[in-house]
Amino acid sequence: MNVVVLHGSAHVGGDTDTLIDAFLKGLGGESAHNTIHFRPIDMNIAHCRACGNCLGGGGCVIDDEMQNVYPAFSKADAVVLGAPMFWGYMTSQLKTLFDRLEAIVSEEHFGGKDFVLFVTYRSYYGSTVEWLQRITAWSGSRCHAMTCQTFDTETGRDVPISDLPDRLLEAEKIGQEILRIREAS
Ligand SMILES: Cc1cc2nc3c(=O)[nH]c(=O)nc-3n(C[C@H](O)[C@H](O)[C@H](O)COP(=O)(O)O)c2cc1C
Repeated sequence: MNVVVLHGSAHVGGDTDTLIDAFLKGLGGESAHNTIHFRPIDMNIAHCRACGNCLGGGGCVIDDEMQNVYPAFSKADAVVLGAPMFWGYMTSQLKTLFDRLEAIVSEEHFGGKDFVLFVTYRSYYGSTVEWLQRITAWSGSRCHAMTCQTFDTETGRDVPISDLPDRLLEAEKIGQEILRIREAS
């Protein structure tokens, strides 16, 4: 499988990264696949300027690191999103990357994939799951979404995801499930 991982967090080894690791384990380990990681916080990715060039099929005119993301995303069988909630939505670096994917928005580039979304949050998450469900329904892809609270409301303390083995197992099972689906098809 071609697997693209979009790390929406700035925390290397943070909550969403740890869920992604568990997921990849379920998928048989990342070396079992052609796995490409992108961490937009460390990349040169400009904001979409809505210039409209891509509407005519000419692609994106901005020459930055999105030019590496486009072919990898297009070829991906599985796209994994690590999405910690910032003000109830995905982080701005992940949103900026998705805005730029507008340049290749079509069933050809978005369809036939397994999209996996890991949302981590303290107290509130917004419409990110619905957002992905809409994209996958329209494009003919599958949506696997998991939301995970990383905060104990009783003690008022953050709970690192590594202290939540059941949730890590859940992420691992999503990997196993996708492997099953892909092997059966
Ligand atoms: C700037 C900022 C904004 C945040 N906004 C929210 C929020 O709106 N809702 C929420 O539940 N948690 C919010 N959080 C908490 C993070 O989503 C949470 O700690 C998450 O587990 C971090 O995941 P990571 O370790 O992968 O970065 C915010 C954290 C930061 C730094």
